[in-house]
Amino acid sequence: MRTIKSRSHDYTVEEHASSAAALAAVTRDVHPHFLVDRAVHDLLDPAVRASLPTDRLVLMEASEAAKSYGPLEPVFLDLLGRGLRRNGLLVVVGGGVLQDAGCFIASVLARGIRWELVPTTLLAQADSCIGSKSSINIGPYKNQIGTFYPPHRVLLVQDFLRTLPFDEIRSGLGEVIKLQLLSGEQGFEELMADLEGFATLGSVDRLPLLARWVQRSMDVKQPVIERDEFDRGERLLLNYGHTFGHAFESVTDFGIPHGIAVVLGMLAATSISARLGMVTEDQAGALARRLRPWHEPYAERLADIEMADLLAALARDKKNTAAGLTCILTRGFGRMERTSLSQEQVYSCVIPALSDLIHSEFGV
Ligand SMILES: NC(=O)c1ccc[n+]([C@@H]2O[C@H](COP(=O)([O-])OP(=O)(O)OC[C@H]3O[C@@H](n4cnc5c(N)ncnc54)[C@H](O)[C@@H]3O)[C@@H](O)[C@H]2O)c1
Ligand SMILES: [Zn+2]
Repeated sequence: MRTIKSRSHDYTVEEHASSAAALAAVTRDVHPHFLVDRAVHDLLDPAVRASLPTDRLVLMEASEAAKSYGPLEPVFLDLLGRGLRRNGLLVVVGGGVLQDAGCFIASVLARGIRWELVPTTLLAQADSCIGSKSSINIGPYKNQIGTFYPPHRVLLVQDFLRTLPFDEIRSGLGEVIKLQLLSGEQGFEELMADLEGFATLGSVDRLPLLARWVQRSMDVKQPVIERDEFDRGERLLLNYGHTFGHAFESVTDFGIPHGIAVVLGMLAATSISARLGMVTEDQAGALARRLRPWHEPYAERLADIEMADLLAALARDKKNTAAGLTCILTRGFGRMERTSLSQEQVYSCVIPALSDLIHSEFGV
């Protein structure tokens, strides 16, 4: 068990042996309400499903449309109608979408109620479950509304990852890879060695490896979010790969899973870093070859996009201004830097790098 420090309240991350054990372990000093991913609910063991109180259970689709400001109103109303109030407890079961929705609801309902999180995707277990953030879409603006409000407990269950589709596992691994690249060469090499042959493992045999890297990911992220919970300085480096990754998600209409878009975004950042002389072309090429299994064939989806659309998507990013582009670039393992590029550098480095990558399918 680990305890994460937060300005709001400290919280624990606990490992439980099964979904039954985790759901039995949620706090029961009040009658908890449950907000559960509909797909996860369908996959639950029938006995576990039957243990959920139907009068305090709300199911939600895990989609970008569902975690939007307007579509959340009926979810608020449903929970209020089922009696959730200031002294209540909301238990959220699902991946990053349910986490974002549940965190937002818990943070604003009655100005903040207790909530506990059972993350069911690798991305949510390894990355998003710690860090306090909620991000909600509004109309066409992705993740533009949000709060900082961590859960009061995180309950991890390896077994949820057994039913996760392989591309969702790869999506989570995208964030795992990002955290190890940020941590330095040793962590990245250990991860790559562990992932050798991973695709051939059965869904049960993968679990211990994934559980180990969930913990290793938290080892990297925890000290950063504890020192800079509110994204004022060093936490911004955790956005490595995200400026370009978000643009790739946007221009493909979310046709690329988030963490896989982050892998492509890290390759874009590395290639731009090479053009600026921060790393060598050989280093950028070597990384592209090693990360290939973790994104292909999704780069193909970018083959037909217009550069103007990609630039427009980059310009919508909240970190960018008309004068240029702010992104995280790299000088090598563990040496990421927040960099503001001028409009001239966008034309001389960013556009040629993106164009080359897209036309070579990211060096595949
Ligand atoms: N708040 C944060 O810090 C933060 C960080 C990163 C990403 N996010 C957000 O998280 C979202 C992505 O989250 P995600 O990648 O966890 O995916 P998700 O919640 O969209 O789930 C992906 C798919 O897997 C299904 N699923 C979930 N658990 C399953 C299980 N155990 N077995 C089988 N299927 C399962 C879901 O129903 C869905 O179809 C994005 O909206 C992103 O913006 C938030
Ligand atoms: Zn991310």
